[in-house]
Amino acid sequence: MDIRCDRIFGADWGTEHRFSTRMRVRDSRLPEAALAAVVEWNHVERVGWMARVAGVESHDDGDVFWTYCPGEFWPGNQVVGARFAAAHARARVAAILRHHLERRAACNWVIGSATVPAELGTILRENGFSCQIHYRAMVATLGPQRGALGSVPGVDFQQSDVPVPLQAVTTARRRAQFDGLVAVGRLRPQRVWYFGAIDSSIPVGTATLFEGEQVAGIYDVEVIPSHRGRGIGTRLVREAMELASGHGFRAAILSATASGHGLYTRLGFRDVGVLSSWRYGRMRQLGL
Ligand SMILES: CC(C)(COP(=O)(O)OP(=O)(O)OC[C@H]1O[C@@H](n2cnc3c(N)ncnc32)[C@H](O)[C@@H]1OP(=O)(O)O)[C@@H](O)C(=O)NCCC(=O)NCCS
Repeated sequence: MDIRCDRIFGADWGTEHRFSTRMRVRDSRLPEAALAAVVEWNHVERVGWMARVAGVESHDDGDVFWTYCPGEFWPGNQVVGARFAAAHARARVAAILRHHLERRAACNWVIGSATVPAELGTILRENGFSCQIHYRAMVATLGPQRGALGSVPGVDFQQSDVPVPLQAVTTARRRAQFDGLVAVGRLRPQRVWYFGAIDSSIPVGTATLFEGEQVAGIYDVEVIPSHRGRGIGTRLVREAMELASGHGFRAAILSATASGHGLYTRLGFRDVGVLSSWRYGRMRQLGL
């Protein structure tokens, strides 16, 4: 469906700016509901982009998108963008879960305020899933940056198509994740950029920019605990916003944890909905 930007961001967006998304809008009277669909759709696009990396099995079923990775390694078994007919939702959840359980794997669902049916969380809970975390879905308009990006004493900032790992790449899981992120950063046309903060050769902060078809998504913002509260997170997000703006994007989205919410709000992001991450929790009981 098309979402009219002028109705959401104001008349200066003009009617020519539209977002397309296959997410439905639950309550079309609320501009926030339309924007929540835009945020969720960027997640779907991003998982779809990661699924282009060799070895990732992807399923675009028309009413949901999901990936399956042997061993649950990167990018994990992710189910996103659900928009089920209410009558079929239980059967659809059960079918996707069966695919994973037959392969002795768990799966993770991301659901948002644009996911349909609205009671999908209840259905997931009935099937043994539990909600791990709620995120605020946030949107900001992009434009010329206000003021200098801001320096942080002793910390260098870099941008590249190779990720900056905050943890040593020592385990098989971390290696698979790192290799996957490298591979997705090398896909062309380039849609993924990594930002790193480095203190004395040690990575202390990261952020990722994923450029969707119409909005830029900012993901994986993290600063190691010892370096928080010094402006590193703010600078990383501003760099991502500036790059996206320079590439012609007029809006950015992200999903915020409680610890990032204040920072993002100060940078112009506003709440438009909620996203939550669900994980299957019965592996042990099933002896898998
Ligand atoms: C969210 C996160 C990335 C923020 O990183 P950070 O480097 O601490 O961010 P900043 O320093 O720019 O801002 C954090 C706070 O310090 C304040 N601050 C920034 N520079 C400062 C300075 N020089 N002096 C004092 N305070 C400062 C900011 O105003 C902000 O205040 P707030 O907590 O009231 O919002 C970090 O807390 C984190 O990694 N959390 C865990 C992972 C996570 O939740 N990531 C977010 C996913 S959306």
